[in-house]
Amino acid sequence: MQTIQTIGIIGAGTMGNGIAQACATSGLQVVMVDINEAAVQKGIATVSGSLDRLIKKEKLTATEKDAALARIKGSTSYDDLKGAELVIEAATENEGLKVKILQQLDALLPPAPSWPPTPARSASPSWRPPPSGPTVSLACTSSTRCP
Ligand SMILES: NC(=O)c1ccc[n+]([C@@H]2O[C@H](COP(=O)([O-])OP(=O)(O)OC[C@H]3O[C@@H](n4cnc5c(N)ncnc54)[C@H](O)[C@@H]3O)[C@@H](O)[C@H]2O)c1
Repeated sequence: MQTIQTIGIIGAGTMGNGIAQACATSGLQVVMVDINEAAVQKGIATVSGSLDRLIKKEKLTATEKDAALARIKGSTSYDDLKGAELVIEAATENEGLKVKILQQLDALLPPAPSWPPTPARSASPSWRPPPSGPTVSLACTSSTRCP
């Protein structure tokens, strides 16, 4: 079975930076991509503030916070996702945008026959996994239904 060490996240907004935080505090390497540096830095700052609140509640140490932040690489380039075993799409809720992003990822990422074990669930009715095998696994969004 394939082990996941690096997670790619598309979008550094509410969902993206929350997923990044959960993955990084669990020990995974994270590459979080957004459209510009300001959005990336805002996402990382949000994670930092959220980790500070956990420190105040004594649920995390300052050392654990630093280690988690060090695991998050912010980027504006999809090329930095190439080493990720799993990419989670968490960009702005817009079907056309999401289809475009998934097509970009299909072209960029290798097929992953052993992951996910069941067919990928699509956030967009217009997108289906490529015949070579699913390269992207993503969560259903609030406004779409998974098959
Ligand atoms: N926020 C929630 O509570 C919630 C709950 C369930 C599902 N969702 C879904 O999760 C997704 C993200 O929601 P959110 O609340 O994080 O939105 P958000 O607006 O907070 O963040 C979206 C981020 O995506 C970035 N983005 C836009 N185009 C991009 C691209 N081409 N490449 C990379 N990044 C891009 C934006 O710059 C922004 O930072 C949406 O589909 C939303 O419906 C959100």
